[in-house]
Amino acid sequence: MTAMNVAIGCDEAALQLKETIKQHLVDQDRVPVEVTDFGVHTPDPVDYPDIAVQVAQAVAEGKCERGILLCGTGLGMAIAANKVPGIRAATCHDVFSAERAQKSNHAQIITLGARVIGPELAKKIVSAWLESNFAGGPSARKVEKIMQIEAKYHAHHGSCTR
Ligand code: RB5
Repeated sequence: MTAMNVAIGCDEAALQLKETIKQHLVDQDRVPVEVTDFGVHTPDPVDYPDIAVQVAQAVAEGKCERGILLCGTGLGMAIAANKVPGIRAATCHDVFSAERAQKSNHAQIITLGARVIGPELAKKIVSAWLESNFAGGPSARKVEKIMQIEAKYHAHHGSCTR
């Protein structure tokens, strides 16, 4: 089986969790994975959108198949990643949501908060998402509608002020 290229990135709040998840991706053998690490590599403060955009871009361009973004809450990373056209990023703090994020929402990126959950749960969440595939069927129509919303607002160059 060809290894799945997974992009990973974090801010300083989730540096330790990134290392834990990288190790988990190597240790687990159910889905062969190749990891591309977009940092950060030091505890120096960084602005999470700077990392989110790199991971999201790598996924949007097809350089990486999926991405994992980690910050304090997982929220800022998701909000930022979802601004990159084509990206569906979902914050998942439980195993069921992680599975559905892939099966129903075809989320290429999951985000997790190092200040919200512990490392063992994070590993289970990552595995559930990694081992799930998009279900297609009625979900395909719904995901297509999400992408149509994006296309519509890009075409109009619309901006939202709040
Ligand atoms: C720290 O910068 C914190 O705001 C960040 O890690 C994240 O929780 C943002 O959503």
